[in-house]
Amino acid sequence: MNDRADFFDEASLIGAHDEGNAFDAVVPPIVQTSLFTFKDYDEMLATYRGEKVRPTYTRGLNPTVRMFEEMLAKLEGGEDAIGFASGMSAISSAVLSFVEPGDRIVAVKHVYPDAFRLFGTLLKRMRVEVTYVDGRDEEAVARALPGAKLFYMESPTSWVMEAHDVGALAALAKAQGIPSIIDNSWASPIFQRPLTLGVDMVVHSASKYLGGHSDVVAGVVAGSKELVGRIRAEAYPYLGGKLSPFDAWLLIRGLRTLPVRMRAHQAAGLTVAKRLAEHPLVEKICHPGLANRLPPGLTGTSGLFSFIFREGVDIRGFADRLNLFKLGVSWGGHESLVVPGEVVLQQKAQPNSAMAFGVHPRSVRLHVGLEGTEALWSDLEAAIAAASSNDKK
Ligand SMILES: Cc1ncc(COP(=O)(O)O)c(C=O)c1O
Repeated sequence: MNDRADFFDEASLIGAHDEGNAFDAVVPPIVQTSLFTFKDYDEMLATYRGEKVRPTYTRGLNPTVRMFEEMLAKLEGGEDAIGFASGMSAISSAVLSFVEPGDRIVAVKHVYPDAFRLFGTLLKRMRVEVTYVDGRDEEAVARALPGAKLFYMESPTSWVMEAHDVGALAALAKAQGIPSIIDNSWASPIFQRPLTLGVDMVVHSASKYLGGHSDVVAGVVAGSKELVGRIRAEAYPYLGGKLSPFDAWLLIRGLRTLPVRMRAHQAAGLTVAKRLAEHPLVEKICHPGLANRLPPGLTGTSGLFSFIFREGVDIRGFADRLNLFKLGVSWGGHESLVVPGEVVLQQKAQPNSAMAFGVHPRSVRLHVGLEGTEALWSDLEAAIAAASSNDKK
C-alpha cells in the first residue's frame, strides 16, 4: 500500500504556529477570551464597517481557532477552513448553507447515523428531500443527481466501510453544477485529500483522528474561500456552533502527530483485520485495505473497520470478555473500541442508517488503537474463543 503520510512534511503542520509566539514558546498560546477590546472609536468603527479585520468576539473570530483552521486548510489542500463545536455542527451548518425548502440533496447510503437523522428530521421538516444512492454504483449516482442542490458523500462509509471512487463521483456532481461535500473523518487528510480529487467541501468530525486523544468534540469544514465563505456568512454565526479556543488548541496539538498516528492505526488495523479474516469463526471483513486495491485517491487505511461473525458466536459473551478493547462509541483516539451491530440495531432514538440500510446483526465494529498489536490480538482471540459455542464457560 502506498503510504503517503510522508507527503505531509512538517511544513504542513508548522507554519501556522511558529510566528509571533510569546517568549518563542514552542507551543502556541490559547487565546481563551470571549471578547477583544478596541484601542479607540476609530478602530471600532473600522472593524464594524469591515475595513479592518480583527477579533471582536470569539463566536466570530478567535486567533487560536483560526490557527487550527489554517493548519487544517493546508492539510486538506483547501483555501480556507472553518471550525465547529462538533462534527455534527459542521455537517448541519454546511448542509443548511446550500439548501432551501423544496430542494433535494443526494446522499450516499450508510452515512454517519446522525447525518442520516439530520436529513430525515430537520431537513425533512424544512421540506428538503434526500435521495440515497449506492456510492459504488456510478450510474445510479449519475441518474440521481440532475436537479439536486447538493451531493453528500462519505467514503469509506460508516460501519460497512464501502470505499468509493471519490474523484469519479465528484466529477459527476461537477458536470451537473452541483456542489459536493464529503465526510473525510475516517481517512483523515493523511490518507485522502478529497479537495484535490475534485470534491468541493470536506467535513470532519475532528473528535476522531484530527484530535486523536478522545478529549475533544469538534468539527471542521474545508474548501474554497467562496464556499467556506458562504457557511461563514450565515450558518456559522447564527447557528453559533463555535469551536472553543481550548478545543482548537487541543486539535493543534493533535494535528502535529496526525501522520505518525495514522500510520500506526493503519498498521495495527491491517494486522488485526488480516488475522480476523483467517479466523474460522469470522465470516466476512469490511475493511477497504483487504480489497484487491484501494479506490483512486485513498492512499491508506485507518484503524476503524467491521467484521461479521459466523453463526454460533455469543456476541454478548465476546464483548464482555474483552479486556483491552472497551465497549464504546466514537473512535480515533489511543483506545481500542468495540461496538456490536446487534446493539446498534436496537437503538431507541430515531431510526439510524444502520437500520435503514441494513447492517448485519452478527457484525461488530472495531477501532484498533495504539495499545500494541500483539496484545490487542491476544485480547480478541481469547474473547472469541471464550464466546464460541464449543467453548462456552
Ligand atoms: C463518520 C462520522 N462523521 C461525523 C461524526 C459526528 O461527529 P461529532 O460526534 O464530532 O459531532 C461522527 C461521530 O461519531 C462520525 O463517526
